[in-house]
Amino acid sequence: MAFPEGFLQELKMRNDLSEVAAPYVTLRRRGRNMVGLCPFHGEKTPSFNIYTENGSFYCFGCGVGGDVISFIMRIENLDYVDAVKFLAQRAGMEMPENSYDDSMSKLRRRIYEANREAARYYYKTLCQPLGREGLDYLHGRMLSDRTIRHFGLGFADDDWTSLTVYLKSLGFTEHELVSANLAVPRRSGNGVFDRFTNRVMFPIIDLRGNVIAFGGRIMTDQKPKYLNTSDTPVFKKSENLFSLNNAKNAGTRTLLLCEGYMDVISVCQAGFTNAVATLGTALTVEQAVLMKRYADEVVICYDADEAGQKATARAIPILRKAGLLVRVLTIPNGKDPDEFIKSQGADGPAAFKAIVEKSGNDTDYRLQRLRADFNLDTPDGKVQYLEAASGVIATLSSAIEQDVYATRLCKEFGVDKNAFMTQLQKRTRRRDRESSRREQQKIRADLSGRNDRINKDKAKAPRSSSAEEALIVYLIRNPDAAEHIAGEIAPEQFQNSLMRRYYEYFLNRIRDGRDAMMNVTADFTADEANKIYQMLGKQAGIAQTRQSLEEYIKVIREESGKLKRDDVGAMSGEDLNRYLEQLRKAKK
Ligand code: CTP
Ligand code: MN
Repeated sequence: MAFPEGFLQELKMRNDLSEVAAPYVTLRRRGRNMVGLCPFHGEKTPSFNIYTENGSFYCFGCGVGGDVISFIMRIENLDYVDAVKFLAQRAGMEMPENSYDDSMSKLRRRIYEANREAARYYYKTLCQPLGREGLDYLHGRMLSDRTIRHFGLGFADDDWTSLTVYLKSLGFTEHELVSANLAVPRRSGNGVFDRFTNRVMFPIIDLRGNVIAFGGRIMTDQKPKYLNTSDTPVFKKSENLFSLNNAKNAGTRTLLLCEGYMDVISVCQAGFTNAVATLGTALTVEQAVLMKRYADEVVICYDADEAGQKATARAIPILRKAGLLVRVLTIPNGKDPDEFIKSQGADGPAAFKAIVEKSGNDTDYRLQRLRADFNLDTPDGKVQYLEAASGVIATLSSAIEQDVYATRLCKEFGVDKNAFMTQLQKRTRRRDRESSRREQQKIRADLSGRNDRINKDKAKAPRSSSAEEALIVYLIRNPDAAEHIAGEIAPEQFQNSLMRRYYEYFLNRIRDGRDAMMNVTADFTADEANKIYQMLGKQAGIAQTRQSLEEYIKVIREESGKLKRDDVGAMSGEDLNRYLEQLRKAKK
């Protein structure tokens, strides 16, 4: 059950990775390759590479790599079969019939359909007498009927099976409903019941217009206040944002990041359609990277309370690292955006616009927040504040930016700028030292394989693992050397079980006359396939000569001899013979 390789070959030929990636990444040519800012993690200097000769990509920053299919899987959040369909459609190719397993892809489609029907059902219920309580609640929160319709808000009634019964009548199976997290299995194991009851419902819609999940708010003070869809095959809460589907069409490259559903809707009703919110979790790197696709600047509009301010402090570096400019909204009187807008009555929209326009950038915000920790009426307090402030300014990466804030502070506090700059430079150097130390730690850990989750044998045998990796890369790049390599090294001589698997796989394919890499994305798990592209990417700039090949072979033989020696005592007769044979081979 796989795609014919001729089909995949044509698919890849007709979907040039640089062209496919162009809408998502700004690419610059560098030699034969293309480089850009990685769309899969936040960064300010480009480490995302496309190797045009073999249609693969690799990011030196986050270690993600693959071919045009895995690129689309990641960036469009599709499974393998759907990514292939996406590319086939892009290139105007017919899909081959019945040759592939698309059960996962079918289930995902059914979940989208079930979610859409559920959203319609919840909306319909809201407009009926049964939904009176929900409608009253939303009206009580000052939402207009137009806003309710625009967001497709709804009502899950108090009956524990109404949605399930309805969706079953449309032909959905219990398995599909449970997979969508619209229903939950009964503890008795007998049948299912609705996931959401007696709540007003907020559908979460992805960028393609699919309903992917729901949030449901209880109308009283009971807990939990909000109940959200758990992760499903079509929904990962850490990777989606509420209302990004609206915000991306707002016609601005600024997003307003709110804490929750009600803030977004209320802000939107006040005329700011560029509002989004995380889905009941703290902001993640993935969400920041996603925002960067549609925005250059984010205004954090969290609650003015302590929790909101803590979340703001956490969000700032995540957004910055994704390459976004950051501003922070200060809402008067400890309110959230929703409460603030309402408290202003008819002037809500104008008042909100005014505070958004007044919002300072993240550095202003951090310096301002810091003031509360010191008594600025005393000389000691001032000194302490300035020292703490120099710590904040030292985190800025641009010297010009540092200078602007330093100048301003020195002027305000009447201190000598030279003295302040000396202090600041000391801090900046310390920051640079620390970050380069962390970088080196990471490189050391990578080399030792200590952090390598899927390549567990690497830490046990780093020397042979490195040679084995290099040998595999050589083999992929030089398929004509396959027979020579196979004659020199048997799979059993590999110490690293993952590398041994790769070795056998690629050797077999090449000996069958097939392209080594064509089916990697389908034949391995996502992590294992990624690892192969990682190995290729890391070696990309390194020339591998015939001489280096002989070196890899030598190391692999030495290491396989060494390790086995310890085990000789425990060997069976057959293993012992094979071992002696290997030793003889290694010595010749
Ligand atoms: N949230 C959640 N689960 C909870 C509480 C909160 O998922 N039990 C999420 C929701 O997305 C919510 C956001 O966190 O919108 C912010 O929480 P909170 O400030 O308590 O909610 P508000 O947005 O103020 O909601 P409301 O105005 O309806 O009280
Ligand atoms: Mn609130």
